[in-house]
Amino acid sequence: MSILFTEADIGSMTIPNRMIRAASHEGLADSRGRPTDEQFEFYKGFVEGGIGLIITGYAGIMQSGKSALYHMTMIDSDNLISHHKRLVDGIHQLGGKIVLQIAHCGRQTWSKVTGEPLQAPSAMPCGFYQEMPKEMSEGEIYTVIENFAKAALRAKESGYDGVQIHAAHGYLLSTFLSCYSNKREDRWGGGMENRFRIVGDTLRAVKEAVGKDYPVLIKINTFENTPSGIKPEECIQFAMMAAGTGCCDAIELSCGTNEDGFVMTRGKFPTDAIFKYMRPYCEYHPAVKFLLKTFVVPFKKIRQPPFAEGYNLETAARVKKVISLPVITVGGIRSKRFMEMAIDEGKTDFISMARPLIREPDLANKFKAGVSEVALCDNCNECVVASDTKPIQCYKKKT
Ligand SMILES: Cc1cc2nc3c(=O)[nH]c(=O)nc-3n(C[C@H](O)[C@H](O)[C@H](O)COP(=O)(O)O)c2cc1C
Repeated sequence: MSILFTEADIGSMTIPNRMIRAASHEGLADSRGRPTDEQFEFYKGFVEGGIGLIITGYAGIMQSGKSALYHMTMIDSDNLISHHKRLVDGIHQLGGKIVLQIAHCGRQTWSKVTGEPLQAPSAMPCGFYQEMPKEMSEGEIYTVIENFAKAALRAKESGYDGVQIHAAHGYLLSTFLSCYSNKREDRWGGGMENRFRIVGDTLRAVKEAVGKDYPVLIKINTFENTPSGIKPEECIQFAMMAAGTGCCDAIELSCGTNEDGFVMTRGKFPTDAIFKYMRPYCEYHPAVKFLLKTFVVPFKKIRQPPFAEGYNLETAARVKKVISLPVITVGGIRSKRFMEMAIDEGKTDFISMARPLIREPDLANKFKAGVSEVALCDNCNECVVASDTKPIQCYKKKT
């Protein structure tokens, strides 16, 4: 039997196979961030399609960390627990497993959405959102840590099988880890131990809130496409530090930030879709659109690293050598053969996928039945840019 279809554990949770649905913002919550029936139906497709574990799209831990993307799921109030519980109970009745990803968007959002000033380690705007955040005070840092813990407890009370702390992709926790966005000179910035402090304290606070047997996962970056952004060597150190807290049950490895474009979701540069779906581009006057398309977008395209299958696997394999926790690798993983190789050779314990499962939620079953060897996703990235203004969908599936 293929190693892909063998079970493995993350803390106290046993996962029936090695294929995980990576967190992907769904935009299917209602306007208050409550999970909806549509969201349940969407997840149901993964369970029926044979995936081992669903990691939800990111859920906001507090209003100041709310995403600017279309209809983020929220977990910032006890009033939401019953709504989450309904969704989770439904997934469990089908035999599925589901982990809630919890996040604070930091400077990668807009204050007109959060209703509060943006929060970041340093007063530096993100190159995409272009809004100046406030340098967080110590008190604000502790409030965020506390809200991660409260959100994790709500997830547990809702019945989720675990939580994943989002410390990747340029959101708040990852901006602390990166020298590019963290210019602080106090105990929350500077050396690696200081930059890791908020993440370590969050892991400890979350574990204390949910108890030692409740699975706590974390997602971090292997690489950022900026001169002083996170490098693989730093990622390896951060993974060791996360493992060293004793409060983490698995580490998922991704890469990139919103402002470095499609490093995280490598593939095509979806120029037309950007101007059709993504704010502020879709709102510009046609003449401005023309100028941007002609002069700015070609320059951005050149900066994108090319797509190669499993672009985080090399660093994941290095992480796996130095920690004893399960490692999950995400990013451009598309073929059954590659997945089997990665697990067989001990480079990762699990693989996770986002874009391919939007197109084929039943990919795991197809691989198992031998009716497919490679995902159909062609990395057009339309799903990525459209998530700004539309609920999640595959734009290729329709045609
Ligand atoms: C539409 C979309 C939404 C995403 N939302 C999230 C998210 O909420 N949290 C997260 O950690 N990653 C998010 N990602 C990134 C994925 O989890 C994953 O790291 C990335 O897409 C690379 O994997 P892939 O090549 O399998 O798509 C999103 C990706 C897509 C395509």
